[in-house]
Amino acid sequence: MGTGAAEGSGALESADAESVVRVRGLRTAFGAQVVHDGLDLDVRRGEILGIVGGSGTGKSVLLRMILGLDRPVAGSVEVLGRRVVPGTGSAEDRDLRRRWGVLFQDGALFSSLTVAENVALPLKVHADLPPALVKELVDLKLALAGLAPSAGAKLPSQLSGGMRKRAGLARALVLDPEILFLDEPTAGLDPIGAAAFDRLVLDLSRSLRLTLVMVTHDLDTLVAVCDRIAVLIDKRIRIGTLADHLIDPHPWMQAYFRGPRGRAAQIDGGRALPAAAIDPTQAAR
Ligand SMILES: Nc1ncnc2c1ncn2[C@@H]1O[C@H](COP(=O)(O)OP(=O)(O)OP(=O)(O)O)[C@@H](O)[C@H]1O
Ligand SMILES: [Mg+2]
Repeated sequence: MGTGAAEGSGALESADAESVVRVRGLRTAFGAQVVHDGLDLDVRRGEILGIVGGSGTGKSVLLRMILGLDRPVAGSVEVLGRRVVPGTGSAEDRDLRRRWGVLFQDGALFSSLTVAENVALPLKVHADLPPALVKELVDLKLALAGLAPSAGAKLPSQLSGGMRKRAGLARALVLDPEILFLDEPTAGLDPIGAAAFDRLVLDLSRSLRLTLVMVTHDLDTLVAVCDRIAVLIDKRIRIGTLADHLIDPHPWMQAYFRGPRGRAAQIDGGRALPAAAIDPTQAAR
């Protein structure tokens, strides 16, 4: 399981651990296509939660619902104890939005702005700071994300894919969020670049005491980084540790977690999973 869990974050395991994201009875549809139906999800403060599921099952849409970018057909979303309602634009809503950071699936940097201008954008929207302080904060976040200050002057098109992800991460961190949402942060990176990004995310989340919600297809990431895994399947979430999912008889879960990639990730990750978790014939229950 994730390093954080292995290090024993006992408070996260307690039944009354604080939920910083609480989704209840979410129903989402586009025309006749129902994407989520009666979906519940709790994210605990301080955890690293991975979200997986087949392509098109609604992971990105779920993030959009949590962030109040779209309106669900039914159900409720609370973040940091406040109801998320799309499009109110109220002061309370703005206050909530500055307490989270987001790295969208496609990076979503503005191509006509330099990296520094991209990273500074949330500061411009949410805070009125003198230019010298903005520059200082931008340089600090670029450094946190592993970029040299010189990267700030470049346009996104002048960066490598991995550097663009880091720039997006710097922007997501610029307002010192309590929760960071990442949608497939390592997609498109080579395995070494992906592993380095995973390590960066893990280090940052621990040192900045972030709660992290990360959509990923990358089993190595799930095994190496995440405390719990939420699987979007049959329009709902099944949440648990890797060991929980390994004994879930649902065919998709078996295929995903016990397929060749799943086994490779468990071995490569060097995690000491119980024998029964790897080999179902040894399962006692
Ligand atoms: N704005 C929209 N209008 C209509 N349908 C949409 C819209 N956004 C998403 N969908 C549909 O909702 C479903 C879920 O999309 P979503 O992007 O959440 O999938 P995903 O699980 O993130 O997939 P992937 O792993 O490929 O990123 C898809 O069938 C998609 O076509
Ligand atoms: Mg997606």
